[in-house]
Amino acid sequence: MPVIILGGGGDYEINLAGGWDADDKGPSIWDTFCHEGGRLVLEGQSGDVTCNSYELWEEDLRCIRQLGLTHYRLSLSWSRLLPEGTTRHVNQKGLRYYNKVINDLLASDVLPMVTLYHFDLPQALQDQGGWKSPEMAAIFDSYARFCFETFGDRVKLWITLNEPYVCAKLGHEDGIFAPGVKEPGIAAYLVGHNMLRGHARAWHSYNVLYRAKQGGSVSLAINSDWAEPLDPASPDDTAATERYLAFTLGWFAWPLFVTGDYPEVMRSSIEVRSKELGYQEGSRLPRFSKDEPSLLGTADFFALNYYTSRRVKPGEGCPGVLGLKSDQDAEGVVDPSWPVCGVSWLAVVPDGLRKLLMYVKDTFNNPAIYITENGFSQMGPVDMEDVQRCGFYHDIIQEVARALREDGVDVRGYFAWSLLDNFEWADGFSVRFGLFHVDFSRPERPRTPYRSGREYAGIISKYRSQTRANN
Ligand code: GAL
Repeated sequence: MPVIILGGGGDYEINLAGGWDADDKGPSIWDTFCHEGGRLVLEGQSGDVTCNSYELWEEDLRCIRQLGLTHYRLSLSWSRLLPEGTTRHVNQKGLRYYNKVINDLLASDVLPMVTLYHFDLPQALQDQGGWKSPEMAAIFDSYARFCFETFGDRVKLWITLNEPYVCAKLGHEDGIFAPGVKEPGIAAYLVGHNMLRGHARAWHSYNVLYRAKQGGSVSLAINSDWAEPLDPASPDDTAATERYLAFTLGWFAWPLFVTGDYPEVMRSSIEVRSKELGYQEGSRLPRFSKDEPSLLGTADFFALNYYTSRRVKPGEGCPGVLGLKSDQDAEGVVDPSWPVCGVSWLAVVPDGLRKLLMYVKDTFNNPAIYITENGFSQMGPVDMEDVQRCGFYHDIIQEVARALREDGVDVRGYFAWSLLDNFEWADGFSVRFGLFHVDFSRPERPRTPYRSGREYAGIISKYRSQTRANN
């Protein structure tokens, strides 16, 4: 009987690491957004120091060991390694830092999963157009090669980009994430397209230049809600659900796993809406050129970030308005029976993950799947005895185990988000996802396990002994 590997939580830049201008680090778009973004981050907070993992890495390692994690997912800061975004200038201290982190993990028997890009583009590249620019695909590829070359002897699990949907939609449609661009219905598709092109190039580089000698795997982390029709008997709700999934999961997974192109329903919905609105400047959803490396097959596993579920009905329309929402024409609602935990968007639906895993299995040709993010947040007064979160982790891991054992889904691992309370983007420090509490009011940023941290450690130790017994 296979047993899932229990990876564990937490990414790194910029949520945890701080040291925003330490040593030779260049600014990223999130540094700019926090400092100059028109105060879009709660109470003007920033990721300048956050958990200060740049200086307190050994404390993090202690927490990782305390949980007994088998894997740790971390994200590199591009502008810490390459302050201007290109290999013309390498920050040796940044390099030393990540080498130490990776070596320390391995010495502690923890396998690193490394994400190259987690929302924080070097500002120098944003100044040249950022992800809207077609040049970004080649620039990202060169950064990726630098990382494969430098760390790939030790890192065997790679994520090129974390949640391109969030970068595209929140960063370039809604403008509530860095770089704060609001160009509805246009920029997000362009950004998503260039991110996919960059991912494909990086995967092909790994495949040709590094796979044989390094033997690792490379993928792209895709976030998606689980979605099902509000009224399962309604054809309109069913069609809306198909569009809802196509515009989130399908947008990035279809090109990699199914056809090398976007889902047909996404393309047709955008074309129809463009016509209705008299938009005449060509398709808003770009086409992949045949002269470029193909997208199909450029994921060695499926990396899935799951947090929540929705019941879906047709959108209430944004008549006359260009935008992703009106293209998608589907609205997700929270079932009143689902508890909402902490942050308002997070309805807790553990069995939604099992359903989503089945959907991924059936739709994307039964891939190996890592659940690269999943978690439960707190808001308001700190609750160190967080029994609800404990229950959540027990329930969700049970759903993963059922997917694996009863549904035959090829789940390879589960990563909890997050190791530590951290800087939760535009929500600042008001939302706490950590298995360890961090006291941000003190310079030493003390880390203390929540009850859920202790129980997560218990779950891991149980799975470890089962694995030993099964072997
Ligand atoms: C993801 C993101 C993480 C964290 C998490 C919880 O979208 O990758 O950095 O913000 O959501 O909200």
